[in-house]
Amino acid sequence: MKGLKINGGNKLFGSVRVTGAKNSVLPILAAAVLNSDNSIIYDCPHLSDVENAVQILEHLGLTAFWNDDMIYVNSKNISSNTIPDCLMRKMRSSVIFLGSLLSRTGSAVIGMPGGCEIGSRPIDLHIKAFKDLGVKFSENGNHLFCTLDKLKSSVINLEFASVGATENIMLLSAKSDAEVVILNAAREPEIIDLQNFLNGMGANISGAGTAIIKIHGVNTLSSTVHTLIPDRITAVTYACAAAACGGDISIENTKYNHISAVMDELMKLGAEVREFKNSIRVKSSERLSGSCVIQTAPYPDFPTDAQPIICSVLCTAEGRFCLIENVFENRFKYIDELVKMGADITYSGKTAIINGASKLCGNEVTAKDLRGGAALVIAGLSAEGETRISGYEYILRGYENLAGTLSQLGAEVEEIGIDA
Ligand code: UD1
Repeated sequence: MKGLKINGGNKLFGSVRVTGAKNSVLPILAAAVLNSDNSIIYDCPHLSDVENAVQILEHLGLTAFWNDDMIYVNSKNISSNTIPDCLMRKMRSSVIFLGSLLSRTGSAVIGMPGGCEIGSRPIDLHIKAFKDLGVKFSENGNHLFCTLDKLKSSVINLEFASVGATENIMLLSAKSDAEVVILNAAREPEIIDLQNFLNGMGANISGAGTAIIKIHGVNTLSSTVHTLIPDRITAVTYACAAAACGGDISIENTKYNHISAVMDELMKLGAEVREFKNSIRVKSSERLSGSCVIQTAPYPDFPTDAQPIICSVLCTAEGRFCLIENVFENRFKYIDELVKMGADITYSGKTAIINGASKLCGNEVTAKDLRGGAALVIAGLSAEGETRISGYEYILRGYENLAGTLSQLGAEVEEIGIDA
């Protein structure tokens, strides 16, 4: 097993470039099933989840391969309608292939997505919407069988602005004879990216980025070339690392408006954040201080994926802070590990209280999920002494070349082998 060893205490200086967004490329690769033609996607991050999505496409009988940071997909031939259990287990977001598979073949079989590290993550909203659109479901053991005869025109009112459900409805409806409206749609930038990709193929979708998305189904979709939007959570991670450690870094290929909810909090704590056209600069020289209540909620509010990451900044900042996690029910597991490093945090249910100004000390800690793992990396970078992080596989699901990038910024970081 791989781990990460960090000798903390260095300030960070220099420049990093953020890759395309993981949460964009996954639904976009699912969309590539729809056009029976070529899709070329640039700036794809080399991450295990993206490798898994490419494997799903290959399993379905499509041609899909990498060339540097580009993924090429040809979906002329499709020979399967099933997402294998092993890939479904490796990546719960495989459920995003359901809409495009059903649209393309009229049927789909997936393993039932189980629980996962940050909460139960049910797919009831996807299923309810699909039923309203005419999809029939049956369960057999651990498998979900889905069939679609003809998509029904419908107005879908999502109970919660689920990112995955919004994307799956768009994927199911883009190529159809139906008119579909999504109310209370998720407004994340990745939804806009998916709309742009689908419209690039000839789809007729409008409203992404607002709470109402209108999909006028079309009969044909064709080849497209697309460059992914930058990964906003990667940008936030490097910004928080610089804020926690001190230093001065430029984060290239970043859209400030995608991350402003997090940058506002860093600035309130005293970090200097400057916005440029396609980059930001984060400078932190004094000890951060303040007091705030941060609540996670769907975009454009504070992202749940950044909640653990900012927690590591708050641990050492002067003041008392409150984090409220409203999106996933099990997203505080990393806190016990931060406490082992000297953080003063108590939590119960949705709320964590952080008494800042802690002096963090290196320790052996375990990442239990992707962003909780990123929080441990930031804590390790700002701590005194050596931190060894196991569970590094989780962290690698979201960050390409993390150790290399942090080293380039002046951190003492090394990938190590860890005995199981
Ligand atoms: C996506 C992101 C993830 C991010 C999350 C919220 C991808 C690949 N992942 O996940 O990084 O943390 O958005 O911004 O894009 N829910 C239900 N029933 C459903 C669907 C969702 O109850 O059918 C609940 C979930 O359990 C969770 C909340 O809704 O509590 C948000 O889920 P959702 O927005 O769907 O997140 P994902 O698409 O899974």
